Amino acid sequence: MSNITGTRGKLILIEGLDRTGKTTQCNLISSRLNYKYYKFPNRETPIGQIINSYLTKQVSDIPLSDQSVHLLFSSNRWEFQNEIKTALLNGQNIIVDRYIYSGIAYSVAKNVAGMDYNWCSACDRGLIKPDLTVFLINDGNFDNHGFGDELYEKHEFQVKVSQVFMDIFYKQENKDYISNHFKQLDVSGMNIEEVYSNIESIVDSFTIKDLNLLLF
Ligand code: TYD
Repeated sequence: MSNITGTRGKLILIEGLDRTGKTTQCNLISSRLNYKYYKFPNRETPIGQIINSYLTKQVSDIPLSDQSVHLLFSSNRWEFQNEIKTALLNGQNIIVDRYIYSGIAYSVAKNVAGMDYNWCSACDRGLIKPDLTVFLINDGNFDNHGFGDELYEKHEFQVKVSQVFMDIFYKQENKDYISNHFKQLDVSGMNIEEVYSNIESIVDSFTIKDLNLLLF
């Protein structure tokens, strides 16, 4: 199925560490450019509610292993695949706030035996891959330790996550993706509108080269 002009929508992903301004920017892109907005984790579904209690450190009757948590995050992405696919094929552009790369980076950064890149990426294989990933860097926020109270919002852990993000993007198997579908944007010191105009021009000027959906 495709829309009337035969073109499909673009899937744009905004990635980055905690508190880099991703959600603010995704909301702006969604409202000003008419992109459909998905944020992961989606904390509304039953799976998302378990993820939320984990992140907000609420006491759970069932202690979750790091492996289970990883699979829940992945499963939360799979919950929305059919919906995302249908929207894209109908010509709807989509903006996603965190996705596959956060899934891998936060889990690998935990440094748990056996939970390496291959293990962590396996359950996401087959998910629709973003046409473009914009990776936001916001050093001001990072240096000021400006994080919240959730589980992963600790300076030391974020340093590790940041390193793993880079390891993932510069992996040999991701080389083609990095050259054609990836932009890193340093927004340190910029206000919201300045960040927006940078992201808007990246998003606007990006045209899909692949008629078929990319798969991870
Ligand atoms: P999010 O709600 O985006 O937090 P924020 O708005 O502060 O950036 O994400 C919550 C946390 O979940 C964040 O610390 C990153 C983490 N996360 C994972 O560990 N795995 C995943 O697959 C995803 C999508 C997020």
